[in-house]
Amino acid sequence: MSTPAVQASAVGKVFASRSGDVIALEGIDLTVAAGEFVSLIGPSGCGKSTLLRLIADLDTPTTGEVTVFGRTPQQAREAQDYGIAFQQAGLLPWRTVTANVQLPLELHGVGKAERAARAADLLSLVGLDEFAGHFPHQLSGGMQQRVAIARSLAERPSLLLMDEPFGALDEMTRERMQTELVRICAESGAAVVFVTHSIPEAVFLSQRVVVMTPRPGRISAVVPVDLGQARGEGLREDASFFAAVTAVREALHGMPVPTPGGTRADLR
Ligand SMILES: Nc1ncnc2c1ncn2[C@@H]1O[C@H](COP(=O)(O)OP(=O)(O)O)[C@@H](O)[C@H]1O
Ligand SMILES: [Mg+2]
Repeated sequence: MSTPAVQASAVGKVFASRSGDVIALEGIDLTVAAGEFVSLIGPSGCGKSTLLRLIADLDTPTTGEVTVFGRTPQQAREAQDYGIAFQQAGLLPWRTVTANVQLPLELHGVGKAERAARAADLLSLVGLDEFAGHFPHQLSGGMQQRVAIARSLAERPSLLLMDEPFGALDEMTRERMQTELVRICAESGAAVVFVTHSIPEAVFLSQRVVVMTPRPGRISAVVPVDLGQARGEGLREDASFFAAVTAVREALHGMPVPTPGGTRADLR
């Protein structure tokens, strides 16, 4: 088997506060295979963002270990193994769309011609070729988010870390973006760790849905989603889709996940 994209082993994270310690994560064991799409779902405060931040080297675990393609998160960050997209697109308002996408390449000293060519490819991938010269404020929220995704792919990361990237979008745009993301991931072959509140979103996108419980943040179940490769719009009305949505909902509400549809995380 190839090196996993992400491996978390017995990861714990405690935040000290004036009113006492907050155990944000406890005993997290999770392996994400190369090219696999995994969602993290759970109530607010269960540690989803914290786990993503540990993988992204934006914070360090209190206990346990995280590796990204067999390296420490810091080494992975330095090797540009991953791209990040969060709920806010976080574009620089004074830069054009293409200049925003080129920013990570610029920071790493990629030459001008290569940067421009790469940005053109990426903008075409996210369907924004015609907007390269526009500024962020001239785009809709969904378009801005697509620019952010293009930017996160600029360095051809083998891992994408996404924290509710579609959280601020209306439902229709959101579904279109999900379809886009499935296509982009298939084309780029990147593994994805995707944080969401939405059960249908997690099911539509993922090969596995990791269900978390709060205080302390733990993995309570891992629900495999077996919807085949063809994740077209029709899938949303398919019986297999509803069955997977129900399985994740029941896991979120603490009902045992039936086998073979699922495995308890602790027996993984
Ligand atoms: N920097 C921090 N300092 C103190 N507490 C934090 C910090 N970041 C997160 N927490 C706490 O850790 C818990 C998990 O937070 P978070 O990972 O943001 O949850 P989620 O993304 O699932 O909503 C929450 O109780 C939150 O208040
Ligand atoms: Mg969060």
